[in-house]
Amino acid sequence: MDIPFSRWHLAITERRSRRQFDLNRPIEPETLVALDTLCKQFRPFPHARSRLVTESGKGIFKGIVGSYGKIKDAPAFIAFIGDMNSPYVQEEVGYTGEGIILEATALGLNTCWVAGFFRPESVASLVEIDSKEQILAVTPVGYARKFESLEEKLMTGFGRTHKRLSISKLVTGMEIVKWPEWVRASLEAARLAPSAVNRQPWGFNVEDDGITVFGRTSGPEFNVSKRLDCGIAMLHIEVAALSSGVKGDWKLLEAPRVGRFCVINDNVK
Ligand SMILES: Cc1cc2nc3c(=O)[nH]c(=O)nc-3n(C[C@H](O)[C@H](O)[C@H](O)COP(=O)(O)O)c2cc1C
Repeated sequence: MDIPFSRWHLAITERRSRRQFDLNRPIEPETLVALDTLCKQFRPFPHARSRLVTESGKGIFKGIVGSYGKIKDAPAFIAFIGDMNSPYVQEEVGYTGEGIILEATALGLNTCWVAGFFRPESVASLVEIDSKEQILAVTPVGYARKFESLEEKLMTGFGRTHKRLSISKLVTGMEIVKWPEWVRASLEAARLAPSAVNRQPWGFNVEDDGITVFGRTSGPEFNVSKRLDCGIAMLHIEVAALSSGVKGDWKLLEAPRVGRFCVINDNVK
């Protein structure tokens, strides 16, 4: 399916992780159908898929430090599933899952990627997976409580803020003053991508005809591959590029690089 780039570009700036949901506000049936349809249709890579489960995720989310991972009262959740035979499964799941998260945001719903702190075996009892597949992450979906509770606000240490690093810390390659508009928009969108414990492990090399995403940091993985985070940033790059009239293709690469967005056509509007 084609990426609904205007809708998702707006969602990139609107999305924020929310962990506590409004028990009194169920998701409307037509919204659930729209989300379920997207989970089935948005499959840009054969080795990554998403599955909507319309039951509360009770028992699935573990919750560890402060409110980190402590998900409350979500009426539904989505499992992000990867076929582990693909060497690029992490970034494929990150890219695919973020499409679903952005559409959920555009539908007015709230979400929170959870990759480290959930029980895959509990999810697997609700979602069919085959022997090559693993559930790499989940998100609760629903309408968040109107006001963030103190618990939600007071996140200790882990993933505490929504703050992002400045672009200049993340890029190499072409000088910033020479960037075309689409590069500026794409990297600003990539910068806003969510990542586990807000670690922002990505770097970007700007070239004449594309952008290469690479792993910028070393250090603990917290049981979540940094390539999954990078896959999320890759979708943000493509969405913003399309919004700027630039179409491209991803070539997935071996570590420490993750993928290269190669411009095919810079006049698609
Ligand atoms: C791959 C991934 C895994 C995450 N895992 C968790 C988690 O286990 N528990 C949690 O509360 N938040 C989790 N988060 C949410 C991040 O902490 C959050 O995205 C980050 O702090 C940035 O905040 P924002 O999403 O509000 O912009 C995860 C995010 C990503 C992308």
